[in-house]
Amino acid sequence: MDKSMYAIEVAQLTKIYGKGDTAVIAIADATFQVKPGELVAILGPSGSGKTTLLTSIGLINEPTHGKVVIDGAVVADEGWTPGLDLKRLRREKLGFIFQAHNLIPFLSAIENVMVALEINNMSRSEAKNRATELLTSLNLGHRLNNYPTALSGGEAQRVAIARALANKPKVILADEPTAALDTENGKNVMDLLKKLAVENHSAILVVTHDHRMVKGFDRIFQVSDGRIIDEETNGN
Ligand SMILES: Nc1ncnc2c1ncn2[C@@H]1O[C@H](COP(=O)(O)OP(=O)(O)O)[C@@H](O)[C@H]1O
Ligand SMILES: [Mg+2]
Repeated sequence: MDKSMYAIEVAQLTKIYGKGDTAVIAIADATFQVKPGELVAILGPSGSGKTTLLTSIGLINEPTHGKVVIDGAVVADEGWTPGLDLKRLRREKLGFIFQAHNLIPFLSAIENVMVALEINNMSRSEAKNRATELLTSLNLGHRLNNYPTALSGGEAQRVAIARALANKPKVILADEPTAALDTENGKNVMDLLKKLAVENHSAILVVTHDHRMVKGFDRIFQVSDGRIIDEETNGN
């Protein structure tokens, strides 16, 4: 595969918080590539650096060393690439899903999804149609006008998934998306995420510390003390 065909490439990615005696090496020397449509799970105990890895790839946290390439664009190489519009790249290329759904509390389900589309210049009527279609496909057609507080945990997380996927991002980054859900809802959310990522041909990185949630992933990275210590590939 042509190198530039990767959705994500990281090389010697290192993130150090703080300086001197109090410095914490949260991620050390991570090197891997993820293709479009590929599903990667990141497993590891609390404090092992999973969130730092995602936010360093996701244009939130500036890498201290190493390289990050998203959809062919070198976004960091020994620090951010100068002159990049990080906000815009985040909006156009990435979809984020967090443990807590992070929905905007004063907007309804459909409005939460429409915001993501309108911010990328889709017209209001188009955004409304696409949000309706997306939420309906996630079995939320009856919840369009409900506010986040009126939704169950699983429903809210499905709205958050709809929002993250609305722009068909090349890369989806999910940080413990099932942690606040019971096992069955967690499995449903994970299955949905996998299905949509494959349909959209998005690369997806999902952090979890629950082994039961990683069935069906193409690869599993095991993280310990800031290092990827093991990589397991499912035969396909
Ligand atoms: N903003 C920060 N400032 C300083 N240290 C941090 C910060 N965020 C995380 N850390 C430290 O980096 C290490 C990895 O944290 P994190 O990436 O949150 O791990 P995980 O998501 O696996 O629980 C931990 O030792 C944590 O205390
Ligand atoms: Mg974390």
